[in-house]
Amino acid sequence: MTPGKARVFSGIQPSGDLHLGNYLGAIQNWVELTDRYECIYSIVDLHAITIPYEPEALKQRVFDVAVGLFAAGLDPENCILFVQSAVPEHAQLEWLFNTVTPLGELSRMTQFKDKSERVEMISAGLLNYPILQAADILLYQATLVPVGEDQRQHLEFTREIARKWNTRFGEYFPEPQPMIGGGKKILGLDGASKMSKSQNNTIPMLGEPEEIWATVRTAVTDPARVRLDDPGDPDVCNVFSLHEFFTDPAEREEIAVRCRAATIGCVDCKRILADGISAKLAPIRERARELREHPDRVHEMLADGAVRARAIARTTLAEAYERMGLEPPADE
Ligand code: TYM
Repeated sequence: MTPGKARVFSGIQPSGDLHLGNYLGAIQNWVELTDRYECIYSIVDLHAITIPYEPEALKQRVFDVAVGLFAAGLDPENCILFVQSAVPEHAQLEWLFNTVTPLGELSRMTQFKDKSERVEMISAGLLNYPILQAADILLYQATLVPVGEDQRQHLEFTREIARKWNTRFGEYFPEPQPMIGGGKKILGLDGASKMSKSQNNTIPMLGEPEEIWATVRTAVTDPARVRLDDPGDPDVCNVFSLHEFFTDPAEREEIAVRCRAATIGCVDCKRILADGISAKLAPIRERARELREHPDRVHEMLADGAVRARAIARTTLAEAYERMGLEPPADE
């Protein structure tokens, strides 16, 4: 561990194109944290296989997410980014944690309940998902975990696993704290539910301007504003809340005044937002384009990240094995 710097860990599922919920709720914050902390980030493909998926498509999605994360500013000189399945210690530590986890707590997890309604076959992997998440974090003895509000319960669960294991085998794992601050819940185009690929309500992070406009123009605004000359209420409008991230305060204020006075229509307001999103994300889009042209470089950066992550993971796992009375790996 770098002396004096707290360690941060977070993960993202390769579950489709990155969207503004990922960017504003997590990725932007991840990048900022790399200046102040020792940061380890993972593309968690072992989590993604807990629901139905296609192997080839998964590989492509892992690559696309890696491109998006590097393009957004994660610099391998300043942090570790790796693919979870390249570090087998995640699954190994998860197995150890399985043995200290009461079954009842798993079935009460909100995300498990939500997801299990959407799949035909509920796998043990889906139930055990939070145990793997606890292993991800504790494998690196991370103390800070930047996540969105939706992950708070999984973080509390991780703390509980650490407590249970420490009580049984001796104080070893720190209890990590969530950093929800940067991770505001970003609502989707429907203005009602969390922006999420599975809800089909996303604005793509790496979309071309036309694509961004095509999605933003369908966004739900103040439902009470039916006709152009109806005054609107920016405080209940999700499009207006997105302006906070992309439009400067003076222009935002002007939009709010004109919306209340019905002198600006929703289409014009959305146009300003779409232009703002496209402009802000233009440098990221450009870097992503360059990276896609050099897939080998992307794979190399990920492989290098996995080697660095694994060096830390091995040490933790060896200590956990030792304390649990298990045999060390045969090749050491
Ligand atoms: P995932 O892949 O769903 O999301 C990655 C990160 O993006 C945040 N996020 C959002 N924040 C605000 N508004 C939204 N609409 C929105 N959509 C996504 C999430 O809160 C998250 O921070 N279980 C985790 C992945 C994971 C993990 C970990 C996280 C696996 N192991 C260890 C932290 C530590 C997940 O499914 O995130």
